[in-house]
Amino acid sequence: MALHSRICEIFGIKYPIVLAGMGGASVPALAAAVSNAGGLGILGAAACSPRELREWIREVRKRTDKPFGVDTLLPASVRRSDSAVAASGSGNSPADLLSGHRAFAQEFMKRESLDRAADEGAAPRMDRDGPAFFSKDFFEEQMEIVIDEKVPVYAAGLGNPGPWMDRLHANGTKVMAVIGSVKHALQVATSGIDVVVAQGHDGGGHNSPIGTMALIPQVVDAIAGRLPVLGAGGITDGRGVAAAFMLGAEGAWVGTAFLATKEAGIHQFQKEVLVESGDSDTMVSKSVTGKPARVIKNKWAQAWVDAGKDPLPMPFQSIVAGPVLAAATQQKRKDIAPGFAGQGMGLIKAIRPASEVLEALVAGAEKALASSNRFR
Ligand SMILES: Cc1cc2nc3c(=O)[nH]c(=O)nc-3n(C[C@H](O)[C@H](O)[C@H](O)COP(=O)(O)O)c2cc1C
Repeated sequence: MALHSRICEIFGIKYPIVLAGMGGASVPALAAAVSNAGGLGILGAAACSPRELREWIREVRKRTDKPFGVDTLLPASVRRSDSAVAASGSGNSPADLLSGHRAFAQEFMKRESLDRAADEGAAPRMDRDGPAFFSKDFFEEQMEIVIDEKVPVYAAGLGNPGPWMDRLHANGTKVMAVIGSVKHALQVATSGIDVVVAQGHDGGGHNSPIGTMALIPQVVDAIAGRLPVLGAGGITDGRGVAAAFMLGAEGAWVGTAFLATKEAGIHQFQKEVLVESGDSDTMVSKSVTGKPARVIKNKWAQAWVDAGKDPLPMPFQSIVAGPVLAAATQQKRKDIAPGFAGQGMGLIKAIRPASEVLEALVAGAEKALASSNRFR
């Protein structure tokens, strides 16, 4: 029995398994490897400057002639944040709190002997004349590149791609949105998207409060047959893919399982942490982007808990965390910058080629689904 669903027809792929858009990890080499192996590779382009995004799209096209996609963020809070900046002066707007939070970050760097000079080389590569990182203009200019390059698939990792839908569909681009609740699923469904990704609490990165096992069937029922659903969050081997099918999903959006691969864009020391860590080694923290995100436990996330201090909302927290995490990454500090990961991390036993991970997900799912009649 071959693993197949209407997701394969919608995207023109062999297996209904999609590489999750993961910033810093789902780089052109990884996206192309997954697409070449029969899945759908999605570029984790959230932090790419518009110019870098165009380069990435062109690079993935050189590496594969198969369909692929681009994931960026469209956070509603970013639209609000420009007015927050304008309204600063009240004393407790995010812009006003920024300097205090930066001082907290600088003290942390001093305490941990993180070299400020080191962060220069590791900071996100920005165009000098491009829009400010994670600003409204930044996210909107990324969308212009996605539309101009006529990518096969676009995924909104946060927010609603509704305002861009007509132009995307006019190019033949299929559109997905990652959601973490039934309410948000219903919102994006009315925008005319093609596929909904239901990502639960178990997953790495930005995070829903609702567990994957409970979320998937409720989202499937809410959009009852109108749109296919990909299950996500904690799906780290073939049994997880099979479980997503059992819950009514028609495929899986998989992140963490593809992190410990040769092609992933994260650092070798971060891949090693994934192999060494287990089910209890993650926590949910706003310390990286300002939104709740599942990270591998680390001193930076813990420092905010210990200080009883609230991180700033997106996009301000990235300004605070950026230099700290860039310097810690440069210094290969596993204890400070191990990265995002989902709770399925304990299933990862080795760093492998992405094609092997995809094949194992497919074979494992086929085996689990074929043997499910054992229970009758
Ligand atoms: C390292 C990492 C980076 C991520 N970055 C993004 C991102 O930039 N955009 C996004 O939409 N989701 C991001 N996510 C969430 C993934 O798209 C996906 O929903 C999640 O990885 C699924 O759960 P899993 O990791 O348990 O498979 C990230 C996840 C990880 C682990």
